[in-house]
Amino acid sequence: MTLEIRSMDATDVDFAVALTNEEGWDYDSEDFRRFRRMDPEGTLVAWAEDRRVGITTATAYEKATWIGNVIVEPGERGKGYGRALVEEAVHYGVEQGAETAWLNAYANAEGFYRGLGFAAQGRTWRYEGKAQGRLADEPRLVHASELDALTTFDRPYFGNDRGKVLTQFYHDYGDAFFTWSEEGLRGYVVGARYAGGMDVAPWVAPPDRPDIAEALFLHLLAAFPDRQVAVAVPEENKAALGLLRDLGFEPTFETIRMAHGVGSGGIDPRGIFGLGGLEKG
Ligand SMILES: CC(C)(COP(=O)(O)OP(=O)(O)OC[C@H]1O[C@@H](n2cnc3c(N)ncnc32)[C@H](O)[C@@H]1OP(=O)(O)O)[C@@H](O)C(=O)NCCC(=O)NCCS
Repeated sequence: MTLEIRSMDATDVDFAVALTNEEGWDYDSEDFRRFRRMDPEGTLVAWAEDRRVGITTATAYEKATWIGNVIVEPGERGKGYGRALVEEAVHYGVEQGAETAWLNAYANAEGFYRGLGFAAQGRTWRYEGKAQGRLADEPRLVHASELDALTTFDRPYFGNDRGKVLTQFYHDYGDAFFTWSEEGLRGYVVGARYAGGMDVAPWVAPPDRPDIAEALFLHLLAAFPDRQVAVAVPEENKAALGLLRDLGFEPTFETIRMAHGVGSGGIDPRGIFGLGGLEKG
């Protein structure tokens, strides 16, 4: 059976959404359009002869690529397609200059990734809940002219320049993108909202200022009340976990943060209160 990995085009998006739905992941066609806009050559579909059999997405930053959405059609598993997709995603990242490929693995897939040369580096917990927020004076909506400065602030915590993701979030969720200034930018939070719910992603503040992280989070909750809210938190960020528990949020599942390559370009989990997304770091 010949396998070919191609860039995802507009006609593949329904297939990609259907595969994620089968896994119970919350993606819609707009999510895949976003991946294609950011990384047209890293948003991939596997074809066996004339059939689509799997997908993955790779988001390339400077020194790191984040891989996500690795899914093979249930009836086509065990034929090497998953391996081929991940290898192609890693290769894409290397071509973009990355030294390391990162991903958040579900526990059932850890062995699969280990077999492909990935090693565990940490864990990420997904917390969900609904809580009352609190409006504060300091958080304010980000302005387009601040995105470069925000990217510079974010860089030591994310480990790379993620300006392209922040710009995309600004366009999609600009009314739920709050920053905190205190002698320069000192934190931000984005609410990737959808009907009835919201993913808090990303959520970043200096490790020595959990008060800023907390105020930003509560402000976002108050600005978009009565929603089911989810956050993916690195287990090392005790301040974020403590705050979420105090608010009554519950852990729903954990993933294993894994790296392939030299291990550079990873996050500083003390400043990352919420990931930008399990699939894109
Ligand atoms: C995980 C997944 C992508 C694997 O795809 P696949 O096409 O079945 O995998 P492959 O056939 O390429 O397997 C490659 C190797 O990994 C091994 N492997 C596959 N799935 C494995 C698993 N869950 N745990 C351990 N090893 C696994 C295979 O035995 C094979 O080993 P080999 O090279 O020694 O023969 C597929 O099972 C899937 O789509 N699962 C649901 C979605 C999911 O959980 N994705 C991962 C999210 S983090």
